[in-house]
Amino acid sequence: MSYLAEPLGEHHDLASFDCGHDGLNDWLGLHARTATGQGTRTYVLVDDDGGVVGYFAVAPHTIDREHLSRSQGRGAPRQIPAVLLAKLALERRLQGHGLGSELLVVALRTIVEAARRVGGRFVVVDAIDAAAVRFYEHHDFVAVPNNRSRLIRKLSTVARALDMPWP
Ligand SMILES: CC(C)(COP(=O)(O)OP(=O)(O)OC[C@H]1O[C@@H](n2cnc3c(N)ncnc32)[C@H](O)[C@@H]1OP(=O)(O)O)[C@@H](O)C(=O)NCCC(=O)NCCS
Repeated sequence: MSYLAEPLGEHHDLASFDCGHDGLNDWLGLHARTATGQGTRTYVLVDDDGGVVGYFAVAPHTIDREHLSRSQGRGAPRQIPAVLLAKLALERRLQGHGLGSELLVVALRTIVEAARRVGGRFVVVDAIDAAAVRFYEHHDFVAVPNNRSRLIRKLSTVARALDMPWP
């Protein structure tokens, strides 16, 4: 089976998607299309049969420098341009075999490509639970002070890791 990420469209059937988290399932089925009109972009991971087996959602964002550690915020303006990786989820039966990491790489590539053109210093994630925190830490995201569920990673280091030009 091969998989392709593409922008969420009207033709995608979202009803049977199940990542094991009701909140993330419901968001895709009930809110993702509306969110597009409000500034969020959702991409779905589609299998050879056209079935939606994963998704991620991204949106422009800013971080208050005072919410970062001194080293994280060094040299940055008070409002730091960033990109929010608002959602990321994979169909439950496919989890644990590296596909979630591949989906994260697709999301990060999308974010780096956009940020090269429009700016952004960090990618930000809000992990849904402790397991998601570990997943992102495994991928070199670092928590911000006083908020265990919010993690960031510098876009310059993401670009370098993915062998992409920056800026
Ligand atoms: C989080 C999610 C996308 C990960 O996808 P996955 O295919 O299960 O993860 P992978 O198999 O690619 O795991 C990649 C690595 O991260 C680690 N990892 C993955 N999930 C983890 C977890 N819950 N806890 C700790 N480590 C985890 C794995 O050990 C693996 O390490 P390895 O490459 O050294 O073996 C998927 O489990 C999912 O959709 N979960 C439900 C929704 C969710 O929690 N989303 C998080 C964003 S809010």
